[in-house]
Amino acid sequence: MLVLGFESSCDETGVALVESSASQAVPRLLAHALHSQVAMHQAYGGVVPELASRDHIRRVLPLTDAVMAEAGRSLEAVDVIGYTRGPGLAGALLVGAGVACAMGAALGVPVLGIHHLEGHLLSPFLSDDPPEFPFVALLVSGGHTQLMRVDGVGRYAMLGETIDDAAGEAFDKSAKLMGLGYPGGPALSRLAEQGDPKAFALPRPLLRSGDLDFSFAGLKTAVLTQAKKLGDQLEARKADLAASTEAAIVEVLVKKSLTALERTGLQRLVVAGGVGANRHLRAQLNGECARRGVRVHYPELHLCTDNGAMIAMAASMRLASGLSEPTRTYAFDVRPRWTLGDA
Ligand code: KG4
Ligand code: ZN
Repeated sequence: MLVLGFESSCDETGVALVESSASQAVPRLLAHALHSQVAMHQAYGGVVPELASRDHIRRVLPLTDAVMAEAGRSLEAVDVIGYTRGPGLAGALLVGAGVACAMGAALGVPVLGIHHLEGHLLSPFLSDDPPEFPFVALLVSGGHTQLMRVDGVGRYAMLGETIDDAAGEAFDKSAKLMGLGYPGGPALSRLAEQGDPKAFALPRPLLRSGDLDFSFAGLKTAVLTQAKKLGDQLEARKADLAASTEAAIVEVLVKKSLTALERTGLQRLVVAGGVGANRHLRAQLNGECARRGVRVHYPELHLCTDNGAMIAMAASMRLASGLSEPTRTYAFDVRPRWTLGDA
């Protein structure tokens, strides 16, 4: 079965084609294409929703043509179309949903709305070394920070989540006030490599709270206070501040993930979402998990941030598990705010 997937929840337009067959446990990615709007939004210091929507409109069909050409298949061969139904920017989501439903109607193919975070969660299944259920998932994106127990496709139990900012937001907001531009996570992480992570004692929010929740808003304030205190010296100490910020975020993510593994008794961790690309986070998790005999799985680096492959994959896996029925009604609605698990 061929599943075409569209992702347009924020600032990346992604299109992908996956193929599943009864003989394969995991669907195969045939082709995917991505257009990042980062350069366009950079001038504004963050994502401008209206510009994002318009750019998705411009990119989505040429990207679809590229995917079909690379896979060597025609649109008529597609069996189901998946699209990101939420959460995300309403206007941006409507582009993907509208295109998916219009294309579905034109081709006579059913469509299926997918939860963006389920896409991230299942994205490690696109790697050469896919995980096996059950596992603990650490979902760390620009908008979400969650620890989940995952027993199968669609079987997600929340163990803990952020009570304010997401980890990616902490990276982005700290980077912004250090003048590192948008999106700040990768830039802050690059700068941190030249700094001393112990240079500044920044808070580790909720580290000892006894639960699996996170809080990053206070950390951002502490970074701001430190930056103000440094005044003229900020420029010279920026790498140290970046390294200290990264160390604080990573330490909390690692410790809480280890606690989640202990509490569930599971021996497998899956890390997904944009912050999962962070090298420091990967190195720390790899070290701690190896010591405990825990296997860690990540999506391939280029599939950590938003992409169409994870949406096509999630649609394909939901269909294979019998959890979802695609529809031919084409009366779509998007869900800008949507909790994973709330169908
Ligand atoms: O999953 P994603 O692409 O989009 C959302 O669904 O939100 O995640 C984007 C987030 C941004 O906050 C970005 O700064 C962060 O992931 N990010 C990183 C790195 N690469 C992306 N944060 C830290 N280190 C990185 N290498
Ligand atoms: Zn995402």
